[in-house]
Amino acid sequence: MALRRCASLLAAQRLQFAAASAAPAFASSSSAAFSSGATEISSQQQQQQQQAQQQQQEQQQQPGADEEANTADFGFREVPRAAKAGLVGEVFTSVASSYDVMNDLMSGGLHRLWKDRLVETLRPFPGMRHLDVAGGTGDVALRVLAAITAAESEAAARAAAPASAGPAPAPDAAPEPGHVTVCDINGSMLAVGRDKAARAGLLGRTTWVQGDAEKLPFPDGCVDAYTIAFGIRNVTDRGAALREALRVLRPGGRFLCLEFSQVTVPLLRQAYDAYSFAVIPRVGQLVAGDAESYQYLVESIRRFPDQEAFAGMMRAEGFQAVTYENLTAGVVALHSGFKF
Ligand SMILES: C[S@@+](CC[C@H](N)C(=O)[O-])C[C@H]1O[C@@H](n2cnc3c(N)ncnc32)[C@H](O)[C@@H]1O
Repeated sequence: MALRRCASLLAAQRLQFAAASAAPAFASSSSAAFSSGATEISSQQQQQQQQAQQQQQEQQQQPGADEEANTADFGFREVPRAAKAGLVGEVFTSVASSYDVMNDLMSGGLHRLWKDRLVETLRPFPGMRHLDVAGGTGDVALRVLAAITAAESEAAARAAAPASAGPAPAPDAAPEPGHVTVCDINGSMLAVGRDKAARAGLLGRTTWVQGDAEKLPFPDGCVDAYTIAFGIRNVTDRGAALREALRVLRPGGRFLCLEFSQVTVPLLRQAYDAYSFAVIPRVGQLVAGDAESYQYLVESIRRFPDQEAFAGMMRAEGFQAVTYENLTAGVVALHSGFKF
C-alpha cells in the first residue's frame, strides 16, 4: 500500500523533472573556482598535492571534523559549505555528455565489474521498488532494472512450468512490475540518463527525479533498496544523506554504497596515486576538454573517509548489520547496511 502511494508520488516527480531539466541545473556564478585554466601538472603542483594528501590523512583521523565547521571539502580545497553543491554542480554539468565514455577510459572498464558486484549483492527481486541516488546517467539504475526484469522473467517461467508431481500449488498473485527511480541533483546528468532509458524503451519502468540526497523528495519507507554509487563523496552533508537513505527505506530495506576508498596494498597505492594525478586530468582534457573537473574528481577520492570511518558513520546514523567489501584491493569499497 505504502509502496503504491510511493509509486504515484514518484510518477508525479517525473513531471517535476521534465520541468526542471528544461532549465540549466546550475548557474555559472561560481565559475571562478575553475578559472586557473591550468591543465598540466607541474612538479610544484605535485608537491602541493603531496602536502594536501598529508593534510587529508590527518583529517581522516577525525572524520566529520569539517561537518561541524562552516567549510566543506571540495577536492583538496576547503570551501564555504554553502558553495560546495554549486561547485560540484558545475563539475557534473561540464562532464555530463562525456561521463560514460570517461568512466570506461579512467577505470579501464573496471567500473562495470564494480557495478555488477553491487547488483549481485543487491539481489533484485520481482516487483522491487528501487531508488538510485546520485544516479547521474543511470548506469547503476539501468543495471538494477535489468536484474529486476530478469528475476521477474524467471519467476514467470517457474509459475508457467507444469508441476512434476502432486497437486498444483495455488498461483501467487503476480506482483506489480518492479520500478527504478533515479534521483540526482544535476539536470544535465539526468537528461543523458533519461535519453538512454528512452532509447532502450525503459521510460515506463524508470522515473528521473532532480533532487538532493540530503533532502530526498520521497515519503518515509517507500523503497525496498537504496543505492548510491560514486555519489556520496560529492555530497556536502554526508550524515544528512545517510539519514535520508534510512528514512526512505522500508523496514528490512537495504542500503548499498559504492565509493572510491583506501587502497590496502602499499605498492598499488603508489601506482594508483601516480596514475590518478598524472593521467586522469589529462585524459579529461583530451576527451571532455576539461582537466579541472577531473582534477576535482581525483582529489575528492583522496578526501573521502576510509572504509572503517565510513562504516562508522553508517552505524552512527542508525544502519544495522553494517559491512563492507573491498573491490580491486580497496580502490573501491562496497558498503552495506540495513534498516531493521
Ligand atoms: C560520479 S557521478 C556518479 C553517477 C552514477 N552513480 C554512476 O555511478 O555512474 C556523481 C553524481 O552525484 C551527483 N550528486 C552530487 N551531489 C549530489 C547531491 N547532493 N544529491 C544528489 N546527487 C548528487 C552528481 O550530480 C553526479 O551525477
